[in-house]
Amino acid sequence: MAIRKIVMYPAEVLEKKCRPVEKFDKKLAKLLDDMYDTMIEHDGVGLAAPQIGIDEQIAIVDIDDESGTIEMINPRIINISGEQTGPEGCLSFPDLFGEVTRPNYVKIEAFNRKGKKYTLEAEEFLARAIQHEIDHLNGVLFTSKVSRYLEEDELKGVESE
Ligand code: CO
Repeated sequence: MAIRKIVMYPAEVLEKKCRPVEKFDKKLAKLLDDMYDTMIEHDGVGLAAPQIGIDEQIAIVDIDDESGTIEMINPRIINISGEQTGPEGCLSFPDLFGEVTRPNYVKIEAFNRKGKKYTLEAEEFLARAIQHEIDHLNGVLFTSKVSRYLEEDELKGVESE
């Protein structure tokens, strides 16, 4: 396991649509383990492969709740509903935080590291984190959705991904 370098904005890899994963092999497992270490090292709640320079549809989310670490390979949003507005940060934009409005509920379909397809439903903060990561895989950055940037005194407890 190893900590990878995080790609900071601006970078081409952060704004392109990622390629689907085709091989569910040891290399993919190692990459996911490295992504986990990198996310934890930077106190993040999620990380997408383009953020470590890899343009493949791989992302992880771990908001430190009972869901554990969610590994999403080739994820697809299949249902959304409701609305939530809350603070968001991104590991590729240090010191930049903003309010983003997103659906409150999301249902996704994705593959795990073994290539097994699963569906997952999430609400509130977990749904927000999942959508932030899936956006990364489509080259969409949270800054394109920020309605208001936050001041320093509003940042308590805001986490990046
Ligand atoms: Co991000």
